[in-house]
Amino acid sequence: MRHGLFGLVTSTVMISALTIGPPSGRWDRLSIVSAYVCLILYAWALVIGPIRVLRNRPPQLNVYLRRDIGIWAAISGLLHLLIGTDVSMNPVYLGKFVTGPDGFASAEIRSGLFSWGSITGFVAGLIFLLLLALSNDYVLRWLGPKWWKRLQRSSYTAFFLFVLHGYAFQALELRAWPLVGTLVAVTVAVLWLQIRGARATRDARAIAKPHLRPGPR
Ligand code: HEM
Repeated sequence: MRHGLFGLVTSTVMISALTIGPPSGRWDRLSIVSAYVCLILYAWALVIGPIRVLRNRPPQLNVYLRRDIGIWAAISGLLHLLIGTDVSMNPVYLGKFVTGPDGFASAEIRSGLFSWGSITGFVAGLIFLLLLALSNDYVLRWLGPKWWKRLQRSSYTAFFLFVLHGYAFQALELRAWPLVGTLVAVTVAVLWLQIRGARATRDARAIAKPHLRPGPR
């Protein structure tokens, strides 16, 4: 049911990106739209845990809503990876944004951003595949909660990598401020909630186990 809803909404957004606007720019539009759909869904999945803890509810290993949102974030991200690779790995793109005379910095700096931006994007894509493989009860039972959680924590690394990748490509393409602002706002909101959630978990554990409480300084 939930997958049906997420599938319907994401495919409607993707099809709209493809069909609304001039046909020549449709793959660029789909690349950007799929990147943002992934960003929003991924951020949503990452803040579900901290918000739970901040509402004084116990941390839970496997929240089904979070898992379903994560699956659609990964599908959108991998779609973006495929289209983004096609859009950017060609001489026209390189000439326009990387080696050409226009840009925010020298061609050398832009080449570095392009290489590292692409590498971080591909590594994030590999982690997405791992996270997709972890997204079912069978693998959770097979690995056991400890190893499953350890591997699942790579979702933070993926977030860190694809956000850096996003900034690199935004700099290369001299993105307009509203889009840069969206990426900054989402990054800050996720980090802030994660830090607050981690503190609340630590405090709750210290109350449950008094010997873990920090002593007087
Ligand atoms: C699953 C991994 C990836 C995620 C989650 C991701 C996410 C993002 C995000 C958030 C942006 C910023 C959007 C903006 O420009 O304002 C972006 C831009 C971009 N990404 Fe990725 N990315 C991934 C992998 C890749 C890979 C491997 C490539 C190809 C090398 C790529 C190519 C691009 C391009 C060309 C842009 C600039 C905007 C565009 O034309 O789409 N991405 N990406």
